Amino acid sequence: MSEILDRAMFGLFSTHALHLADRHGVFTYLIDEGPASPARIARARGIAPETLERLLLLLASVSVVERDRDGTYRLAPELAPSFDTASPRYIGGFVSHMVTNTTTQLRKLDDYLAKGKEAVDAAGPSPFETIYRDEESTRDFLEAMWQLSFHPSQELTRLAELSDVGHLVDVGGASGAFAVAALARYPELKATVFDLPQVGPHLERTGREYALGDRLAFAPGDFFEDSLPLADCFAFGYILSDWQDETCVELLRKAHAACGDGGRVLIMERLFDDAGGPLPTAAQNLAMHVEVQGRHRTAAEYTALLREAGFYDCVVRRSTWDKHLVMGRKA
Ligand SMILES: C[S@@+](CC[C@H](N)C(=O)[O-])C[C@H]1O[C@@H](n2cnc3c(N)ncnc32)[C@H](O)[C@@H]1O
Repeated sequence: MSEILDRAMFGLFSTHALHLADRHGVFTYLIDEGPASPARIARARGIAPETLERLLLLLASVSVVERDRDGTYRLAPELAPSFDTASPRYIGGFVSHMVTNTTTQLRKLDDYLAKGKEAVDAAGPSPFETIYRDEESTRDFLEAMWQLSFHPSQELTRLAELSDVGHLVDVGGASGAFAVAALARYPELKATVFDLPQVGPHLERTGREYALGDRLAFAPGDFFEDSLPLADCFAFGYILSDWQDETCVELLRKAHAACGDGGRVLIMERLFDDAGGPLPTAAQNLAMHVEVQGRHRTAAEYTALLREAGFYDCVVRRSTWDKHLVMGRKA
């Protein structure tokens, strides 16, 4: 069979194998103890060796682990930060979200094809009612968001050049990944995370963990009902990809109304390239379709939304990760 078909057809297996190896501490064992046989890992983690060996063979076939001649396995060194639970780049929570949440939701696509998304979703609850349905689901989602956003935010806060900003409002800022990175880089800055009330305890815990005192505040609210707190910079990280164009313009206009003259808005998102890739953007574009109501866009499409909401002087700054920055200024 062709390599292209193999990759396309069997991708399902690697996502599940990644998730299970992470969940059962296989990667952390390899990180802490070095190369090991499936039997040794299985004994240490109290899991079944035969199933583990099959998972490791699959992961070796996609180069996540390497298999030595003596049958021991090692984690590909460049992946260690992504699966080390102590690393700020740990991504296991996001993989878990894909397996436990996105996978189930992808089943809706068949119905969407037959009847259209609007008709299928009409009867159901709104996306964030589902996501915040109980404490566990809320915590898992916010953890996944933190893992997706905290590491890229180190670079995005530098690209945004916020040294002239006094007050940043992070709209839908979740448990504070971008706000914390911005406060660490700019000592004079104050930040407010504006988000749904369910998020409050999680943001407040972040504030305590990072000892941010009154530099980090939480403003509970609904950005469809309430106006935004006044500030000279507004951040929208993975917000506009949740919504349709008209809703995005409505949200950006709210930021424009609350923004001081000469202030800025920062959109931080995955971007489509001209060829309709890359793969993570195309994959998450499907996830946005089933999990929320939005989509991913090109940099030019975000710039058009900014202009429609009244911002000008729009610039695009690409990061070395998959979350990029599109900025606009208020006159
Ligand atoms: C995809 S997450 C993005 C989190 C974070 N900004 C990031 O970049 O990782 C979307 C955020 O929007 C918030 N949100 C959704 N609907 C909202 C509403 N009506 N009002 C305020 N916040 C909302 C959610 O609670 C969540 O924190």
